[in-house]
Amino acid sequence: MSAEQLETVLAETRSFPPSDDFVNAAHIGGMDAYKKKYQESIENPEKFWGDVAEELHWFKKWDTVLDDSNKPFYKWFDGGKTNICYNCVDRHLDGANANKAAIIWEGEHGEERVLTFRDLYREICKFSNALKSIGVKKGDRIAIYLPMVPELAIAVLSCARIGAVHSVIFAGFSSESIKDRVLDSECNIVITSDGGSRRGKILPLKKIVDEAVADCDCVKNVVVVKCSSGAEPYPCDFNEKRDLWYHDIVKDQPVHCPAEELDAEDMLFLLYTSGTTGKPKGIIHTTGGYMVYTYLTSKYVFDLKPEDVYWCTADVGWITGHSYIVYGPLQNAATVLMYEGAPNFPDEGRFWEIVEKYAVSIFYTAPTAIRAFMKWGDEFPEKRDLSSLRLLGSVGEPINPEAWMWYRDKIGGNRCPIVDTWWQTETGGILITPLPGVTPTKPGSATLPFFGIDAAVIDEDGKEQQAGLLSVRKPWPGILRGIYGDPERFKETYWCKWKGEYYFPGDGARKDDDGYFWIVGRVDDVVNVSGHRIGTAELESIYVEHPAVAESAVIGIPHEIKGQGLASFVILRKGFEGSDELLKELNNLVAQKIGKFALPEKIVFSSDLPKTRSGKIMRRLLRDIATGKDLGNVTTLADPSIVESLKSKYQDN
Ligand code: WT7
Repeated sequence: MSAEQLETVLAETRSFPPSDDFVNAAHIGGMDAYKKKYQESIENPEKFWGDVAEELHWFKKWDTVLDDSNKPFYKWFDGGKTNICYNCVDRHLDGANANKAAIIWEGEHGEERVLTFRDLYREICKFSNALKSIGVKKGDRIAIYLPMVPELAIAVLSCARIGAVHSVIFAGFSSESIKDRVLDSECNIVITSDGGSRRGKILPLKKIVDEAVADCDCVKNVVVVKCSSGAEPYPCDFNEKRDLWYHDIVKDQPVHCPAEELDAEDMLFLLYTSGTTGKPKGIIHTTGGYMVYTYLTSKYVFDLKPEDVYWCTADVGWITGHSYIVYGPLQNAATVLMYEGAPNFPDEGRFWEIVEKYAVSIFYTAPTAIRAFMKWGDEFPEKRDLSSLRLLGSVGEPINPEAWMWYRDKIGGNRCPIVDTWWQTETGGILITPLPGVTPTKPGSATLPFFGIDAAVIDEDGKEQQAGLLSVRKPWPGILRGIYGDPERFKETYWCKWKGEYYFPGDGARKDDDGYFWIVGRVDDVVNVSGHRIGTAELESIYVEHPAVAESAVIGIPHEIKGQGLASFVILRKGFEGSDELLKELNNLVAQKIGKFALPEKIVFSSDLPKTRSGKIMRRLLRDIATGKDLGNVTTLADPSIVESLKSKYQDN
C-alpha cells in the first residue's frame, strides 16, 4: 500500500454494521457474543480448542490439547488419532447430507459436474485404493499439478485419506519450479493431466511435467487425468513405463477404502511459498490442528449454513484453495462451487453468470480481481441476478477502500457483509477478520482477531504501538509446524524477532482506536503480486544466471489492478548493453524458472545502483524513484549522481 493509500485508510471513518436479520440468523450474532467467546478463547485456549475439536470425529482422543514444551515446535492434540478426509466426507454420509451436493463443478466451456458427498466418498476411495495399488504408503510425498477440476480435490483428499503428504503446485508454475519442489521433498508420484482449459486455449500440463521429471530420479510414476472432454486426450506424450492413466488405475478399484488413523501431528501437506531468499520454502501443515482450525474458521467467518452455495474463486494450488475450497467448507458439509477457468472467458461477465446460474450465496475473492471487475465495467454485474448473494469475502492483499465500496455496492447490493480476511500460507487459516454477524466493517480494515488469536501491533522491542509490526502472541492450532528440511530457517524466519515468544508474519500494520487492524503490507523483501507472493531475491538470483547480468535489485511498485507489480533494476557486465532483445531474454528466463505470473512490469538497465558506501543497495531509494517521490538527501550514497540517471531511465522506460 502506498503512503497515499495509507493516508486514505487512516482517514476512513465509514462503518457498516451487519443488518439485524443477519445478526439474528448468524452462528455468532452480535458483538457481546463475540467478546465473551473471544475472552474465553484467550484465557483458556486449551478448553476452547478442546471443545471445538469434540465437534469432529477422532478415532482416539488426544492426551494434551497444546504441548508447548519445545517452542516453537508446538504440538496440538498430541496423542489423538483422526483423519481430515474422514471429517470432510465420511462424517456426512449418515444422514441427509449423503445426497447433498459437495462439489458443483463448472468447466470453462460450461460443462457441469455435480458430486454429492456419497459420490465424492466413492471417488476418493477408488483413487485411494489406486494409489495404494501402485505402492503409495503413509508419509510418501505426492506432487499434484492439475487444473481446477474435481480430480484436484479428489487427489488432495485421497492423499489425506491414506496419510500420504500432498504437495500441490499451482498449474501456472514452470517445469523448473516443479522440479525444484519435487526434488526438495523427494516426491515419488506426480499427479497431472493431459492438459487444462484456459481462456479457450489448452495448457500443456503433461508436457511441462515431462520436462520437470526428466531430471527427478525419485519420481516412480506420473498419474495422468484425462481432462479433454473429447474421446481423445489432449495431445501429449505417454511414457508406458512410467505414466498411468487415472481412469485406468481407478477403474476396477473397490468403492470403500478405510481412512488411515493418523496421529494429530502427522504431516498432512506441504505447500511451497516464497520467502526472502532465492529458495522457496516448503511450509509444513499437520493433521489435527489444521483440521480443527479450518473447520471453525470456515463455519464462523463464512457463517456456513446447509443451504448455502459457497464459491471461493482461488485456485486449489494456493493455500486459500486448500483451506477454503477443500478442507474447511467440506468439514462443514457445505456445497462448494468450483470453476475451472478465467473470469473473462468468454467475456468479462462470466463470474456473474455463474453466480446467477447456481444461486451462489457466499462469494470469496481477491482485491486484484475486484479491481479488474471495476475496470471492466458495471454493466457486467448489472446484467445478472445477484440477489442470491448474502456474504462477500476478500483475501490476499490489502483492499483499497474504493474497491471495497464498489464490491459492497455493485456485487453485494449494499446488503451483504464483507469479510476482509487476513492470513497467510503459514497460518493455515484466517487470523484477523470480521465475523459477518458481529463486526461493523470499515472499508480497508481486516478488523478484529478470530477466536484464540492474540494479535498485536508492536515495535522491534515488543512494545505495543499504533503502527508497527504485526505479531501473534499465542500459537493457534493451524500454525505451520516447520519448513521442510530446514528447522533453522523456520526458527529464524518466524520466531527470532521477539526471542521466540511471538510469531512474526512479516507484515506491517496499524491499530485504530476501536482496536481494528489495518494491514499495511509486507515489511520484508516479499512482494504480493495479484495476491501471489514473490520473493524479490528469487528474481534477482535468476537474472544473475544470464551472462550479461552483473547484479540486480527487484522491488515492488504500486499497480492499479495487481495491487503490486515488480520493477527490476539490472546492472550489466562490461561489454553488454540493454536492448529489447536482452529484455526478452530476461523475461523468458523468469517465465522458464518460475512462471509467467512473476514477470516484472519494468526492467531498467543501468551501469550501477544506488549503494551506501559500504556497498548495500538502497532499495528504499529505488522505490522512491519508481513512485516518483522526492529523493531528499542522497549524499550518503557512494555515487549520488546515479539516482538522477536512474530516475530519467525509469521514466523513459
Ligand atoms: C500475505 C500472505 C492468505 C491467502 C492468500 C495469500 C497478504 C493476505 C490479506 C488481507 C492485507 C493480506 C499479507 C500476507 N494478505 N490477506 N486480507 N489484507 N494483506 O497467502 O501467499 O501466504 O500471502 O498476503 O501480506 O502476509 P500468501
